[in-house]
Amino acid sequence: MTSADVRSRFPGLSDGWIRFDGPAGTLPVDSSVDAIADYMRSPAPANLGGQFAASKASDGVVGGARAAVARLVGAQDDEVVFGPSTTNLMFAFTRALARDWQPGDRIVCTQLDHDSNVSPWLLAARDAGATVEFLEVDPVDGTLDVEPLKGLCADGRTRWVAMSGASNLTGHSPDLLRAVAIAHEYGARILIDGVARVPHLPTNIAEIGADVLSTSPYKWYGPHAGILVVRDGLLRTIEPYRVRPADYDGPSRWETGTPQIELLAGITAAAEFMMETPLVDEAARETALLALLQEGLQDISGVSVRGPSVSEDRAPTLIFTVAGRSPLEVDQYLASRKIAVWHGDNYACELIDAMGLRGDGGAVRAGIVRYTTADDVRALLQALTEFTSGT
Ligand SMILES: Cc1ncc(COP(=O)(O)O)c(C=O)c1O
Repeated sequence: MTSADVRSRFPGLSDGWIRFDGPAGTLPVDSSVDAIADYMRSPAPANLGGQFAASKASDGVVGGARAAVARLVGAQDDEVVFGPSTTNLMFAFTRALARDWQPGDRIVCTQLDHDSNVSPWLLAARDAGATVEFLEVDPVDGTLDVEPLKGLCADGRTRWVAMSGASNLTGHSPDLLRAVAIAHEYGARILIDGVARVPHLPTNIAEIGADVLSTSPYKWYGPHAGILVVRDGLLRTIEPYRVRPADYDGPSRWETGTPQIELLAGITAAAEFMMETPLVDEAARETALLALLQEGLQDISGVSVRGPSVSEDRAPTLIFTVAGRSPLEVDQYLASRKIAVWHGDNYACELIDAMGLRGDGGAVRAGIVRYTTADDVRALLQALTEFTSGT
C-alpha cells in the first residue's frame, strides 16, 4: 500500500491538519468507522445471550472482536476482556487482585509507566497494606534497565510487576523477555502495559510470556475502548467484582454490564487493518520517519530531543524542549500552524520527574503513525525552525 492509499483510509485527515498526536489517540480507519455504523444501522442491535436472530448476531460481533484481538496479540479468544478504557480495566483488575494481598506483599511499578499502570496499583496496595517499589529509569535518556528487578523480587514477596511495553513519552521499550524471566523466576506475575507498544511493535503475549497485556484500540485506529489480555486460565482464578446473574464463565464475567457492542465491531475492523500490513514492514517505515524527525530537530538551534536514540525496538514517539519557550507555547504555536502535538507529562508522571522536566512544564511530544508522511515531518521541522528563529 502506498502512503496515499493508507491516508485515503482516514476520513479524519480531510481537514488539512498535520497529526503528530497519535500517541494520545489515532484517527479511526474507515473500515472501523463503517463497521460501527453498519452494526448500528443493521437489525442486529440487541443485547447478548438471547435466542432470537438479532441477539445471536450481536453475540457474533463480540466473539469476532475477541478472535481478532487474540490474533493481533498472540492470545486465545477467551483471554480477551473488553472495557471502556484500559485505565478502567486496570482499576477493576488490581482491586480484584488486591483482595488476596497481605501486608508485607510487594508490587513493583516502574518510573517509565503511564499513570494508568501506576495509580491502580498504588491504590490497591494501599487498601491491602502491601508496599509498592519503583524500578528507576536513567535520568538522562529515560531508559529502563530491568536487571535491578532481581533485587526487588529475590525475597519472594513480590506478587506483581507492572511494566510498560513502550513509553508513551519517549518510545523506549525495556527488555520485556528479561523482565518476564526475572519475575517468573521468583514467583511474581507480570503485567505489561502494551498501550503505546501494540500500535508499533510486534507484541505476542505468548512469546513475551507475560501474564497480562493491556492495549487500547483507539491507539491503533479503532474506537475508544480498552482491552486486557489475561493468560493461561488466570482470569478464572481471580474473582472480579460482578453482579450475580452475569455469565460466570469466560472473559465476559469481567465485563460488567452490557459491552459497547457497536465499538467491538469497530475494534475487529481496526485489528484487521493492523494485520493487513506486516508490522515489521510498517515498523521500518515508522523508524525511518522517526530518524528524519529526530535528526531534523537536533539541527534546529535551541531544540533538545530527550530520550533514547532511534532504533527499531522502540516506539516512534519522541519528546523535545525548546530553549526559552515553554512546552505549552510550542504546542500553541504549532496548533496555530495546524500541526497537532501534545505537551506536559502526558500522564508519565515519574518519568517527567526523573528526567528533570517537571519544572519546565514537561516536554513537547510528537508521534509517528501509519498516516504520517515525510512531508508531515518536514512541515513540523519547518514550523519549528520559523518559531525558534522568530521568522
Ligand atoms: C502507555 C499508556 N498506557 C495506558 C493508557 C491509558 O489508556 P486508556 O485511555 O485506554 O485508559 C495510555 C493512554 O494514553 C497510555 O498511553
